[in-house]
Amino acid sequence: MTARCDGSANRGRYRVDRLDVGDETARLLADLHQGLASSPKSIPPKWFYDEEGSRLFEEITKLPEYYPTEAERAILTENADAMVALAGADTLVELGAGVSDKTTALLDAIGRRNNGKIRFVPFDISQDAIETGASRLLERYLDIEIHGVVGDFDLHLPQLPTAGSRMIAFLGGTIGNYPPEPRLKLLSQIISSMDYDDHLLLGTDLVKGEDRLVVAYDDPAGITALFNKNVITVMARAFDLDVSADDFEHRAIWNRDEAWIEMHLIAKRDVSFDLPGMHVDITRGEYLLTEISAKFTPDSLLADFEAVGLRVVETWTDGDFLVSLSRLNK
Ligand code: SAH
Ligand code: AVI
Repeated sequence: MTARCDGSANRGRYRVDRLDVGDETARLLADLHQGLASSPKSIPPKWFYDEEGSRLFEEITKLPEYYPTEAERAILTENADAMVALAGADTLVELGAGVSDKTTALLDAIGRRNNGKIRFVPFDISQDAIETGASRLLERYLDIEIHGVVGDFDLHLPQLPTAGSRMIAFLGGTIGNYPPEPRLKLLSQIISSMDYDDHLLLGTDLVKGEDRLVVAYDDPAGITALFNKNVITVMARAFDLDVSADDFEHRAIWNRDEAWIEMHLIAKRDVSFDLPGMHVDITRGEYLLTEISAKFTPDSLLADFEAVGLRVVETWTDGDFLVSLSRLNK
C-alpha cells in the first residue's frame, strides 16, 4: 500500500515522525495477555491496521453497504468552508487519519482561506496509511506542508504538534470503537491536548435500523470478513503461530442494549497456541470479540460531551440522519 513521498521533490513539504512506540511486538503481546484472558476473549481493534488491514479498510469505505464514509463526506463537502471559517483554522490535525480521503474537503477549505497554504498533521498508528495519504495530498496541493505523526491514541496525544491555529478532526466514527469508559478517557485526553482556541470536529455514527447496521459490517462481498480475520494473521505473524485466519468465521451482531455493533471471530475448530508467557485454548464455536462500533443518539452524544466538559458549538447531520459531525470547544 505504501507509496513513497519522501523524495527530494517533497523535501520541506513532508516529514513523518514515529513517536516512541517502543517494541510493537511487546505491546501486542501485552494486549493479547489481557484480552485473551478476558471473557469473552478479545483483541483490541488497533491491531487490524497493518499494511493489509489499512488497505482492506479503504476497500470497506468504497462498499455500497458501508454508508458512514459517503454520508460523512457529503456533510464535509457541503459545510467545510463554514467549519474552517468558524474555527479560524490554518492547520488541520487529524486523529486516526488513515489515508485522509474525505479530509480533502477540509483541506480545500483551509487552502481557500489561506491563499492556498495548508498545514496538515495526520496522526495514525499506521505509517503505511499516513504515507499513502500523504503521497496523494502532495500531488493534489502545491502549497501544503505535511507533518505525519505515527503514534497511538492511548499513549501519544500529549505529543501532538501545537503549531498554528488548529482544527482537530477525529472523523469516521472511530471514537465509537472505544467502549464507554475508555471513550470518555480518550475524549478527556483529546481535550487536554487542546488549547482554548482549538476546535474539535468529531464524527460519530448514529443509531439506525438493525438491518442497515448489520449489512454494513457483514457485506456480501466479504471484505469486512477479510478485514476482521486479518487480525489473526497479524497475531500469527508476530509470534510465528500455527493458526490461520481461515480457522475463524466472521460475524457481526447488533447489541441493542449497548447500542453497538460487535464484530466476532468464531473458531471453526479447537484452536490452541502458545504466546510467550501464555497458553491459549479457543474451543470450536467460541468467539473472539475484535471490535465494538458504538452508534449514538443526539442525547447519548450530549451526555458524553457533558461528562468530559466539551461544549457543542454546532452539529451537522446528513439528510438521512446516518452520521453526525459536532464542532466542540473545551
Ligand atoms: N479517518 C479515516 C480512517 C478511519 S479507520 C476515515 O474516516 O475513513 C481508523 C483509523 O484509526 C485507521 O487508520 C487506524 O490505523 C487508526 N487507529 C486505530 N487505532 C488507533 C490508535 N490506537 N492510535 C492511532 N491510530 C489508530
Ligand atoms: C474505523 N471504524 C470507525 C470502523 C467502524 O465502522 O467501526 C472500522 C470498521 N470495522 C468494520 N468495518 C469498519
